[in-house]
Amino acid sequence: MEPVYFDWAASSWPKPPEVVRAVTELLAGNGANPGRGGHRLAMAASRSIYECRVELATLFGVKKATDIALLSNATEALNLAIKGFLRPGDHVIATELEHNSVRRPLEWARQHRQVEVTYVGASPEGVLDLKAAAAAFRPTTRLFVVSHASNLLGSVAPLAAIAELCQKHQVKLLVDAAQTAGSFSIEVEKQGIDMLAFPGHKGLLGPQGTGGLYIHPDIELEPILQGGTGNNSEDIQQPTVRPERYEAGTRNTPGIAGLREGVRFIRAKGVHSIRMEEQARITQLHEGLAAIPGIRCLGPRVGEERASLISFIKEGEDPAVTAHRLDREYGIAVRAGYHCSPLGHQTAGTLESGAVRASVGYATTNEQVEYLLDSVRRMAACP
Ligand SMILES: Cc1ncc(COP(=O)(O)O)c(C=O)c1O
Repeated sequence: MEPVYFDWAASSWPKPPEVVRAVTELLAGNGANPGRGGHRLAMAASRSIYECRVELATLFGVKKATDIALLSNATEALNLAIKGFLRPGDHVIATELEHNSVRRPLEWARQHRQVEVTYVGASPEGVLDLKAAAAAFRPTTRLFVVSHASNLLGSVAPLAAIAELCQKHQVKLLVDAAQTAGSFSIEVEKQGIDMLAFPGHKGLLGPQGTGGLYIHPDIELEPILQGGTGNNSEDIQQPTVRPERYEAGTRNTPGIAGLREGVRFIRAKGVHSIRMEEQARITQLHEGLAAIPGIRCLGPRVGEERASLISFIKEGEDPAVTAHRLDREYGIAVRAGYHCSPLGHQTAGTLESGAVRASVGYATTNEQVEYLLDSVRRMAACP
């Protein structure tokens, strides 16, 4: 049975053919180390990475491409932003919808760096309590961290209002764009985003092992890794120049070549047009699921803004069983469990059960959505 893929929120697939081609061409045609030699192959590898940085800078409205550090995933980017920024005595505001890739580094900073953390609550549908957010600021607050969209509920954060609060209190804003980069318009300067963490392997359509962090030029992060950068080798300190400061060790050159093509694909198609298509598919799926007796959908109601994912529960059945049956009986790949978001489950009232998550991408078709709906209908009819 051909697998029908509804797990785009974990990693996008299938990738555009250009992405696959760029990775294989680099692996087959140029295995040289970027930035570590003056020969033509090494220079070509460096150029390929530079081109990816420029594509990302254009996509996110970043003036200087060197303000983007190319890393291995969103988790590494969030760790660098949080651990590199916070100092003892700082207070951070985050939300109850954060992924463990934000929560765990924050809890680490709480334990090891004497940092205080406030998690702002949300409604069970994932609407952030903006009044509580406004009231959470203290004189020691230096950072606000927020997921642009919840990977569990699909709710979208009110970024403009949060950025305004941060500007008012002169607090830096770190946005986790894991569920939005590539399908929501993001322009860091216009939107008042000081740091943007993004995976390369989800909406940006690159390979796994890619991701990055935009760091505003005024922000100086303490690197979390020290090591070889191919420049300033005589200096025992990590270079201060960007991006080398944050890119110790050899980059994932084939992966970054693939990411470059993923971003080119998105820019050629247009973020807005990708968003429109994904929105149509997720609305179709949401409306269909909501009409099936015994299925409970989580997150925003039909008609409200939602990222390209939906979590649901088949009443009386463990979500792991629902996901397993969809896989084995119908060939459909969805994800079950807690989605690295225990606080989000607490907010939604699903901490006991977890949920099944189905997510769509640029290549998801009408027919695939109808097939998933039909499969869930059959399972609901004969449990
Ligand atoms: C909201 C959110 N943040 C962070 C991450 C971590 O991303 P990565 O797997 O690229 O480290 C994910 C992954 O699912 C996510 O959904």
